[in-house]
Amino acid sequence: MAANTNTDAPVPDILAHAAETASAAPSIHNSQPWRWEVDGDRLELYAERSRQLTATDPEGRMLTISCGTSLHHARLALAGWGWQAEVDRFPDGDGDLLARIRLAGAIPITAEAEQLLRTIGHRHTDRRPVANRPVPSDALQALAAAAYAEGARLQLLHVEQVDDLASATAHAAEIDAADPTIQNELSEWTGGERSQLGLPDEVIPSRPPQTNVPSREFSGSGSLQIGDNHDKSASYGLLYGDEDNPLGWLRGGEALSALWLTAVRLGLGIMPISEPVEVPAGRQILRRTLSYLGWPYLAVRVGVPADETEPEATPRLPASETVHKH
Ligand SMILES: Cc1cc2nc3c(=O)[nH]c(=O)nc-3n(C[C@H](O)[C@H](O)[C@H](O)COP(=O)(O)O)c2cc1C
Repeated sequence: MAANTNTDAPVPDILAHAAETASAAPSIHNSQPWRWEVDGDRLELYAERSRQLTATDPEGRMLTISCGTSLHHARLALAGWGWQAEVDRFPDGDGDLLARIRLAGAIPITAEAEQLLRTIGHRHTDRRPVANRPVPSDALQALAAAAYAEGARLQLLHVEQVDDLASATAHAAEIDAADPTIQNELSEWTGGERSQLGLPDEVIPSRPPQTNVPSREFSGSGSLQIGDNHDKSASYGLLYGDEDNPLGWLRGGEALSALWLTAVRLGLGIMPISEPVEVPAGRQILRRTLSYLGWPYLAVRVGVPADETEPEATPRLPASETVHKH
């Protein structure tokens, strides 16, 4: 354990720095649907509805999961700098104020917090096919434990359940393809050149990868070069929880961030698969996969990266757009 080295900085600066660090978090279509407000000794996380994908995500499920990943990044930044964060989720009940953070004193910095904080800059969505090597089962257990510690669960899928996920995803893809509003939204957010929001061509595969579970079809002509491997050695998990409501989704997002950063630390790649959860028919199939024991938040593909290189980074909004200090 290391001592806290950051005790002299003014509290609002520490909180703003944590919020800036949290802008590296993953979000649906890279919509970054969060707004951080620093108000004296409080850091507040708001849902930014102007960046909600209203056709794809009318209920705000994926928006709230995305905000949860940002919340976990901010918490992790504070822990990695030696601060105990007190987090109040939905302090005003329902609404767009998702969480309020206060510093509750200095704590020793654990090696785990420090390492996870360091992984933030190396975490990217990896849409390339994975290597033909199975993911070690103790690594999968570590991901499940990371999700569990954040109040959600990861069900690791066996072969038949991967088939369920594949059919739920294919079904959702058909629904999306037939819906012009969703298609318009997809071209608004994905493909082409992008410097702040959305997915640029560089992170979209130039041709459909060979895989058991179909990848999402984005707009534009992707330029990400991919190998010929088939994803047959990938593992799949379903992140889920007890509640299909904003608090459950927020915790689900925190769990997604925790398991993803843990995966990066273990040298594994993650690709979220949210399309089947976005449509009611897909959610129904996945509810059955969970034996009705919970509500699906999102699926993940976990794999040993086939490429030596880090996946391409996706751009972000400048911090001045997402972090406001009063
Ligand atoms: C809630 C959520 C849903 C996502 N769904 C998908 C998906 O279905 N397919 C996909 O390729 N990426 C998906 N992503 C990954 C985002 O596209 C990615 O996080 C974003 O573009 C930022 O890129 P980065 O993760 O490389 O920083 C999802 C991410 C989140 C947080």
